[in-house]
Amino acid sequence: MKILFLGDVVGKVGRDIVNTKLSFLKEKYSVDFTIVNGENSAHGKGITTKIYKSFKNMGVDIITLGNHAFSKREILDSLYDCTDLLRPVNLDPMNIGRSYTIKEIKRKKIAVINICGLAFMDNTVENPYQSMERILSRISADIIFVDFHGEATAEKVTFFEYFKDRITVVVGTHTHVQTADERVKNGCAFISDVGMCGAFDSILGRDIEEVFNLQIKKIPSKFKPAEGSAILCGVLIEIDDITNRALKIKRIQIRPEDVE
Ligand code: FE2
Repeated sequence: MKILFLGDVVGKVGRDIVNTKLSFLKEKYSVDFTIVNGENSAHGKGITTKIYKSFKNMGVDIITLGNHAFSKREILDSLYDCTDLLRPVNLDPMNIGRSYTIKEIKRKKIAVINICGLAFMDNTVENPYQSMERILSRISADIIFVDFHGEATAEKVTFFEYFKDRITVVVGTHTHVQTADERVKNGCAFISDVGMCGAFDSILGRDIEEVFNLQIKKIPSKFKPAEGSAILCGVLIEIDDITNRALKIKRIQIRPEDVE
């Protein structure tokens, strides 16, 4: 089983590179199942129903979110219609939408779970360990895949070490910078952060001038995604069809200078 995960898609630049490269990646790596973090896909914050549908049309199986899950309020009206959209289990408000799903692919049940870290997050309202234990007590699956959306590397590594014997994959999202610490331990694949799909010449996908204005001149601003050439970041995880445990995790990056 090969699972492709693409990191936080930022704005139109990010959506366009996913649209352009996804078929190529799926064919190149014989991908069976694709997950994309779309929490920044609508103009840098949140997601809309239209964008959710466009990801599905591109061939994405599951779309995960993060701390900006509900930044575009319209998604609240169609959360239950977007059956393959996951919101973090421990994000405020906790009682709407789906936080996990189970799909059957090649006769394997794959559970995908979306969860937020606590460190430096202002809208996480439940300890992620408590949330994860509750979900584990409810589900039965061959492969358990977690998108852990968090700011702090240490928190992500600790979560992976604590749950590694009971889950199959933990990918970190949210920082938008791909880390080089991918590993497989006890049959569980991990990376602290997958990185983003968005404008390369930017501050985490955001317009540089706008961030200057906000951080240095303290001029309030709306989130403005940067424009220009894109970087695509992801990971490919290979899972043993007999043991259902992770065998490999490989980082993927396509940069503007790469011709593929
Ligand atoms: Fe985030």
